[in-house]
Amino acid sequence: MGVGVLGAGHYAPENVVTNKELEKIVDTTDEWIRTRTGIEERRIATDDEDTSDMAYKAAVTALKDAGTKAEDLDLILVATVTPDTPFPSVSCMLQERLGASKAAAMDLGAACAGFMYAMITAQQYIETGAYDNILIIGVDKLSKIINWSDRNTCVLLGDGAGAAVLGKVSPEKGILSFELGADGSGGKELFQNNETGYLEMNGREVYKFAVRQMPQSTANVVEKAGLKKEDVDFLVPHQANIRIMNAARERIGISEDKMAKVIQWYGNNSSASIPIALSESLQQGKIKDEDIVVLVGFGGGLTWGAVALRWGK
Ligand code: ACO
Repeated sequence: MGVGVLGAGHYAPENVVTNKELEKIVDTTDEWIRTRTGIEERRIATDDEDTSDMAYKAAVTALKDAGTKAEDLDLILVATVTPDTPFPSVSCMLQERLGASKAAAMDLGAACAGFMYAMITAQQYIETGAYDNILIIGVDKLSKIINWSDRNTCVLLGDGAGAAVLGKVSPEKGILSFELGADGSGGKELFQNNETGYLEMNGREVYKFAVRQMPQSTANVVEKAGLKKEDVDFLVPHQANIRIMNAARERIGISEDKMAKVIQWYGNNSSASIPIALSESLQQGKIKDEDIVVLVGFGGGLTWGAVALRWGK
């Protein structure tokens, strides 16, 4: 038996905020944002659309895609750093809203690497035989904690949700290898300030960490899976900065068309970034049955995670 993705889905708020609009509120330019990050626009949720609302919409599409009924879910795992409230958790809100009557529910936080942590946590429950169907969601409403007068951060981030249903697949398919890691000494480089409530970041330090970690984790999971870099068919990196994404891509030597790239439309969606990029790539037909797919991310904590899969059921 393998453990793999049975279906995926995503949701992003309708409200589009372009770089040009940000020029009006902070000292920045469309040109600076595009060339330094690859971002052209991002989605920002309205006041009446909270984290659980976005998560719910992504969850419904993923369940439909997987052909899984909510009542058959054993566990709901939500990766987020911006829950509606500390408790009840977003996962409990979803459990009720989806009608997932027998599902256990918990949130976990690993910032932008949260979806990787959720995926591997789910895999362990299924592999041990404890559970069959697990809904995992990466969701963040970062706009709640963005300081809209800080040009170092506000131009980079956006809101959204991505989801996947994990379950049993054929033995040769599904998750082949993974790597999860953390370095708490880097916590000061990217954090939510308790006094102001705002996200703060030392962009240069995070950049240096990310261009080292993303390519390394990508290479590590390929090797752990007993594969060569030439075997990788598609890469889904965390969408934080096109230059960081390209560093991971170049490490395994694959062309641009074999990398998920949605950063231009969404910016950095934190925990939602990888599942949105995955779901978009599936919808665009970029991932085929049997493809070797690598997902890789990093985030505040500092945290990181990567997974190599052979796609399909
Ligand atoms: N518009 C114009 N100028 C800007 C802007 C802006 N929006 N933001 C910063 N600058 C300025 C800086 O103040 C700096 O000016 P100075 O030299 O006078 O001090 C100058 O541009 C260059 O700054 P650098 O830091 O050298 O720019 P760099 O090319 O490194 O790009 C960036 C900055 C995009 C932030 C990059 O460092 C980066 O991508 N870092 C990683 C960010 C990341 O991935 N964060 C994850 C956070 S998400 C999460 O976990 C929730």
